[in-house]
Amino acid sequence: MSPSDQRLAAAIEQWFPLNARDLPWRNPRTPWRALVSELMLQQTQVSRVLERFEPFMDRFATPCSLASADEQDVLAMWQGLGYYRRARSLHRAAREIVDRFDGEVPIDAVSLCSLPGVGRYTAGSIASIVGGAREAIVDGNVMRLLARVHCDGASPTDRVFIKRVWSWAQNLVDICEQPPLLNEGMMELGATVCTPTLPSCDKCPLAALCQSRLQGRVSEIPPPKRSAARQELHHYAVVIKRRGKVLLEQRAATGLWAGMWQAPAIESQTILSESEVIKRLPFPLQSLRIQKVMQRTLTHRNVTLHIYSGSLKRGARVPATMGVKWVPVGGLADVPISNAGHAVLAADNS
Ligand code: ADE
Repeated sequence: MSPSDQRLAAAIEQWFPLNARDLPWRNPRTPWRALVSELMLQQTQVSRVLERFEPFMDRFATPCSLASADEQDVLAMWQGLGYYRRARSLHRAAREIVDRFDGEVPIDAVSLCSLPGVGRYTAGSIASIVGGAREAIVDGNVMRLLARVHCDGASPTDRVFIKRVWSWAQNLVDICEQPPLLNEGMMELGATVCTPTLPSCDKCPLAALCQSRLQGRVSEIPPPKRSAARQELHHYAVVIKRRGKVLLEQRAATGLWAGMWQAPAIESQTILSESEVIKRLPFPLQSLRIQKVMQRTLTHRNVTLHIYSGSLKRGARVPATMGVKWVPVGGLADVPISNAGHAVLAADNS
């Protein structure tokens, strides 16, 4: 039996205003704040976005101010959020908003979807929550919530299942009273009550309607994911300091941590000896001292960070080429550096 959409929608719409978290992008709610927050929240936890959202909005209060900014400044303001491709997409989106929409973020789903980095979920979220449109949204939280409510144990990666969830979400938004409350309420329920592990069914406004709860199958839905094998990567970083400054190099414009700055490093899929690291580095090094080894799990890679401190050979000069610079240790916050890059620089005790 399928739960009644009317009862589901009404329960969510009543629950949300009484239980909404006080999140900064909800107050004030503008299309620009919604767009920035949605891009930040893709694949990043709310707690991390909370630290970065207001400083970013203070610096780039309008699409126009972001559009005219230098990419390095945008990446620096995105620091700590990871997945820097989103920052570049947002930067390009701001330029298109200026060029094609007179600097005003559109709030219809079709225009939104035409912007870089904006997919069906993000467009639906802004169009419905800010614009009040009857657009469905499905993110990971909504998918889990609706799968449990319908007691559907299909794999979350199954295309047919994903289509089914979008059509449940569309049915709900078609018959609800207020699309903003329904859609954001579903996301909120998934994030705070219908959590992946140990959901709080005793606090759930849908408990009486939830088919997986009634059948005692909540813990089976969704089924566990089979994780894809991650590539192993060894990152040998050398922190080189001189007169209160640290030497940084810029990564390539594509691939992992694209365009970010870091302590000079050599990467390899296999373990390297210290002499191999010294040989491959483009600077003549006098010494290399291991400081720390750390593990980082990224989406597609297991990275082992081998962190060394090093000193240049006496009289050695670092070529004044593009992509290498000395940065005051106190000025690292102004340079785009990934979380792993900051961990490397912080691990050096020299
Ligand atoms: N409100 C709108 N979008 C949201 C999101 N991604 N997470 C939490 N609250 C939101």
